[in-house]
Amino acid sequence: MAVDVILGLQWGDEGKGKIVDYLAEKYDIVARFQGGPNAGHTLKFDGQKFVLHTVPSGIFRQDLINVIGNGVVIDPITLEKEIAKLDEAKVNYQDRLLVSRKAHLILPTHRYIDAASEASKGKEKIGSTLKGIGPTYMDKTGRNGIRVGDILDKDFSIKYEKLKAKHLGLVRLYPEIEFDLEAEEAKWFASLETLKALPMIDGEYYINQAIKEGKTILAEGAQGSMLDIDFGTYPFVTSSNTVTAGVCNGLGIAPSKIGEVIGITKAYCTRVGSGPFPTELTDATGDFLRKEGAEFGATTGRPRRCGWIDLPQLKYTIMLNGVTQLVITKIDILNNFENISVGTHYEYNGQRTEQLPYDISTVSMVPVYQEHKGWLSSLDHVSEYEELPEAAKNYVQTLETSLEVPITMISTGPERKKLIIKEKAKVEVLG
Ligand code: GDP
Ligand code: IMO
Ligand code: MG
Repeated sequence: MAVDVILGLQWGDEGKGKIVDYLAEKYDIVARFQGGPNAGHTLKFDGQKFVLHTVPSGIFRQDLINVIGNGVVIDPITLEKEIAKLDEAKVNYQDRLLVSRKAHLILPTHRYIDAASEASKGKEKIGSTLKGIGPTYMDKTGRNGIRVGDILDKDFSIKYEKLKAKHLGLVRLYPEIEFDLEAEEAKWFASLETLKALPMIDGEYYINQAIKEGKTILAEGAQGSMLDIDFGTYPFVTSSNTVTAGVCNGLGIAPSKIGEVIGITKAYCTRVGSGPFPTELTDATGDFLRKEGAEFGATTGRPRRCGWIDLPQLKYTIMLNGVTQLVITKIDILNNFENISVGTHYEYNGQRTEQLPYDISTVSMVPVYQEHKGWLSSLDHVSEYEELPEAAKNYVQTLETSLEVPITMISTGPERKKLIIKEKAKVEVLG
């Protein structure tokens, strides 16, 4: 079997957690392949709400294996908190939550550097979640990192002290900030016990063996393609490859093993943190989108910037990811809009273009819009595509035609069951 992929096509928070949770019961394994606790994936079912940061979104489906892949960076403190929530909810995760030995650890001092570095940037700050993501990936590529497997090493504390000393040297390069290292270290060492209790695996062997045995695997992306370290709006990005290519590195599988690539986009667009966002609305309409969509970060609680859907941006990320099917989420948030705009082009340097420029972070691009009539009605009772109001169908059709990828699912609410399956045959596992 191939590995199917679910990932975000915008700047994160597209509703990946909800869709992974919905589809997970059809799979044997769900695996996270990159990112870390900067992610916040919200799941709602049976009147309960969970926000997952490190644990894959398949954890609430019985019998399903959840893998934290080598490409992920783990903060054991966050992981411990997530696991406490699973314990509280009486979720049986033992033997179902596996961690790659090669995943890197986020140390308290990684968060310290993240905070000091951001504070020093002033107006130019990235708007990082301050979870230590950038500094941890820097140590990984700089070949100084500490991996999960190292916890069992007899020299673990020597490695830790050495890296900590390096970090404290780095912190001195920045203006002083408050950080209670002693308290954070105590929490960190205590939380390692929870991590140690989870089965450690050689993830690349595990996943490839599973593929051989015909198991079905879903790779769960974090962040969004516009936050990719190579192809996002650099430097306002995260520090991992969030695109499909990241699945190969983050789980240890060959490109030929990738199956369906399910790209998720909201019916509009949001971004949290700094950086370019061509179709952003800084007016009352943007505020209304934020209010209707309850657009506040699942990890940091920050208000998300809101705007219209941006077709050139989506065409770009569909191209990068090789998307084979699209999921539109939060279409219900547009219920109360008389008119809905769709960004079709940009005006840039006096020319009309569909291409995102290299210097997107510094130039001014004016989006060109096409207007659509809203449907001005609730979608609460809609469970089949045919039952959608005509104006909503027209909106979906416009997106499908312009993006040239079949839209297979449309999400109409945060609850697990609020999902319209538009084209069953295209979702292989749904049959
Ligand atoms: P993720 O990071 O991609 O998993 O997305 P987040 O969980 O950060 O943000 C998505 C938010 O939208 C969460 O609060 C979800 O519960 C919610 N959500 C997901 N799909 C829908 C939908 O179709 N309609 C509405 N109203 N909310 C949704
Ligand atoms: P999920 O998986 C939205 C953003 C941050 C910041 C930039 C860099 O929930 O979609 P980092 O902490 O990685 O140094 O932050 O990336 N960011 C996200 N935005 N959703 C996410 O994850 C994000 N993870 C990071 O706001 O702008
Ligand atoms: Mg999120």
